Amino acid sequence: MSPQPLSVRKLLRSALVLLTTISALTIPPAIAADAAATTLGAAAAQSGRYFGAAVSAGKLGDTQYTTILNREFGSITAENEMKWDATEPSRNNFTFGSADRIANHARSQNKLLRGHTLVWHSQLPGWVSGIRDANTLRSVMNNHITTVASRYRGQIHSWDVVNEAFADGNSGQLRSSVFRDVLGMGFIEEAFRTARAADPTAKLCYNDYNIEDWNAAKTQGVYRLVRDFKSRGVPIDCVGLQAHFGSGGAPANFQTTLSSLAALGVDVQLTELDIAQASPNAYAGTVRACLNVLRCTGITTWGVRDSDSWRGSENPLLFDRNGNKKPAYDAVLSTLNAVPGSGPIQVGVNYRLVAQHSGKAVDIANSSTAAGALAQQWSASGGTNQQFDFLDAGGGYFRIRARHSGLVLQVAGSNTGADVTQQADTNATSQQWQPTDHGNGVVSLINRQSGLALDVWSASTADGARVSQWNPTGNSNQRFQLQRL
Ligand code: G3I
Repeated sequence: MSPQPLSVRKLLRSALVLLTTISALTIPPAIAADAAATTLGAAAAQSGRYFGAAVSAGKLGDTQYTTILNREFGSITAENEMKWDATEPSRNNFTFGSADRIANHARSQNKLLRGHTLVWHSQLPGWVSGIRDANTLRSVMNNHITTVASRYRGQIHSWDVVNEAFADGNSGQLRSSVFRDVLGMGFIEEAFRTARAADPTAKLCYNDYNIEDWNAAKTQGVYRLVRDFKSRGVPIDCVGLQAHFGSGGAPANFQTTLSSLAALGVDVQLTELDIAQASPNAYAGTVRACLNVLRCTGITTWGVRDSDSWRGSENPLLFDRNGNKKPAYDAVLSTLNAVPGSGPIQVGVNYRLVAQHSGKAVDIANSSTAAGALAQQWSASGGTNQQFDFLDAGGGYFRIRARHSGLVLQVAGSNTGADVTQQADTNATSQQWQPTDHGNGVVSLINRQSGLALDVWSASTADGARVSQWNPTGNSNQRFQLQRL
């Protein structure tokens, strides 16, 4: 045998090994539909949802706590640090030290961040609850919302804009509070409008407890409020159901409550889940109800370990005092894993695609509705030219349709650096993209025709940087977080 063919064979073999190594290193496999995820966050992300925990800044130095938090949860809610008494203890004196620690932890760990809460009658400093003049209170409330929401603008997944405004009992009306008593019922609408102006990219939630039972007067009161807001165009995106349950867990009609609220055109989120004694069945049933409702987009437990809970003597969480997983943890994990694995993308849902290296959104330039308009990145604005839904093209591929124009993203050929533009939907392979799942709703998107990845040019962080295609590297300028809208 002559040496020539041997060395060619050798060369080919080395090339194959190299290629396999490169693709193993840079392109994590898409999560198979039936692969069981091993953490709460990853398991929830299989259906495009988040699983989070309320976090206390004072515990971020506890390594057992942060180990569990970082490993298991995809979202963080500040348990107390963003409340009014923490952020504006005296008039116009804003203190963000603890809130910033939580926000920084979320950012450094690549977690979603929930804001809790802008307007609440409790944990409200006396200088606010003592105000009797409507003009003063209005300007104080709006200044508080604007200052706090602006500080975290672009970082917050959802804000609990108004918390616990409805009364317990059978009235179905707002509770007495300085806000209702001095400003009237319109304070909620005003708070939401002010929050939207301060942070147009956060989802704005109304959050309350004891609104899980569809027959409760309080639930019906919240339902009417949301229906009224939606009918008049008052900006509201979500209802947070706190889900503090007794040992029996959620009421039998909980799913009806979730689906009825969702049918008004808002997301629903379980924002403060804990269940006395943490029965595995009660936890599984609660999680299942959320999974059964497309617009139930995430679940947060109110703390990490039982020892972190505001109702610690009832052992209501998923980890015990030693940081061990409890039976309820296993029940929740397997319930999340049992969901038909649709991957991180849901059809029929609008998303913002945020590039991970820049925090900027995929955007159709100048909001053009014309075929051929370029895709670029731009600071998240809340505009419909930054909103996309996915159309199933079969075989694990999707078309990506811009909401403002109805046109889909297409690559212009097979070469690296080719433009991505919007074009009329023909379902051509140049319009089909396969997601690779990086967890927590972060994906890379590979074009079917070219085999190349959606990419922000040169990893630029500037507004206006072109979105094109490039060899898949798995780098953060090819990773996009799908933010459900
Ligand atoms: O940090 C101080 C400590 O220095 C002081 O010595 C001690 C004295 O009581 O208080 C400590 O602050 C406590 C704080 O939690 C931090 O632990 C406050 O007293 C206590 O009132 C506060 O409780 C919080 C409660 O909201 C206040 O209403 C809980 O942690 C928090 O889990 C709870 O969360 C609420 C949600 O915001 C809204 N929905 C209900 C939920 C449960 O009550």
